[in-house]
Amino acid sequence: MCAKSVQSHRKDEHLFLAEKFFTQQAKSDFEQVRFIHQSLPESRLADVDLTTHFAGFTLPLPLYINAMTGGSAQAQKLNAGLAQVAAALHIPMATGSLSIALKEPETVASFQVTRQHDQRGLLFANLGADVTVAQAQQAIDVLQADALQLHLNAPQELVMPEGDQSFRWLDNLQTLRQQITVPIIVKEVGFGMSQETLAKLTSIGIETVDVSGRGGTNFIQIENERRHQHDYSYLADWGQSTVESLLESQASQKHLTILASGGIRTPLDAVKALRLGAQAVGMSGTILHALQHHDVTAVIAWLQDWCQQLRGLFALLGCHDLTALRHAPIVLDAALLNYCQQRHIT
Ligand code: FNR
Repeated sequence: MCAKSVQSHRKDEHLFLAEKFFTQQAKSDFEQVRFIHQSLPESRLADVDLTTHFAGFTLPLPLYINAMTGGSAQAQKLNAGLAQVAAALHIPMATGSLSIALKEPETVASFQVTRQHDQRGLLFANLGADVTVAQAQQAIDVLQADALQLHLNAPQELVMPEGDQSFRWLDNLQTLRQQITVPIIVKEVGFGMSQETLAKLTSIGIETVDVSGRGGTNFIQIENERRHQHDYSYLADWGQSTVESLLESQASQKHLTILASGGIRTPLDAVKALRLGAQAVGMSGTILHALQHHDVTAVIAWLQDWCQQLRGLFALLGCHDLTALRHAPIVLDAALLNYCQQRHIT
């Protein structure tokens, strides 16, 4: 790869800053959702079936590696590691935004490395919501992607020093939805979604959405750190948490398949997100953190144990699958209850 472009340098800065702020991540609101313990769960771990379905795929685990990177030598190394983890766990993986690969073709290999390490796995190509149909198709083709993730990231663009200043995406999303043949997943990047956003996405025929809420990686904090002037640190709490976003999605869950990411760290976070209606949970920051500190083999072992603990929590709740989990009794703390009342969520 030749001298680093602005975009390529940005990718490395994102990786560095996401890891730098990992230990300072905000509370996720998962602590405000509590399961009611059942002393007679009448279950066995061996009977728990974690199978899930979304975007036309049937998957053995309700977990995927969410979009992160590509476009630099460092990103290529990370993508290779992520793809090995995804292959070992049989979970899908999304690449970072391929917009750099469309502008700088010499960076394509840093994305394609995922397919080389996970030939039979499900790969999601990731792009912004403003791309043309031809660009989206090119990204799908270079990766032989099984689905296309389209990200909505207005707060990030606003704070990013070189960010876009136009956030008109709905018509283009509809065009992409009509012309792209692989499944489309519309996702946030850690600011969550509202009932109003979900209704707009439903109105144009989008079927699968990752609400990606606040509580984990924070792109206002990251982009603000990259600025040399005009401080935006006052915006650090912007957006709905992943829990709030899942509550916002309750009415839409009839029409939309909901995925959850943003601050998923423990199996308990995951089981709470699944209880609130997510068909699967995505992790970025937590897996990035693991791979920065451990080799691929250790990360695979950690994630396998993580999934076994997830199975254990289903059993503890007396639920043998995702459908049963949806009926597990929970209570919400006062702040979340207040949120639900003001947002007319029942
Ligand atoms: C991201 N994320 C992201 N999302 C996206 O749609 N396209 C992208 O290119 C990127 N790039 C990216 C880089 C890095 C280093 C991180 C950590 C994250 C956002 C990601 O997919 C996810 O929506 C949020 O990070 C929230 O999840 P976590 O990190 O809290 O698990």
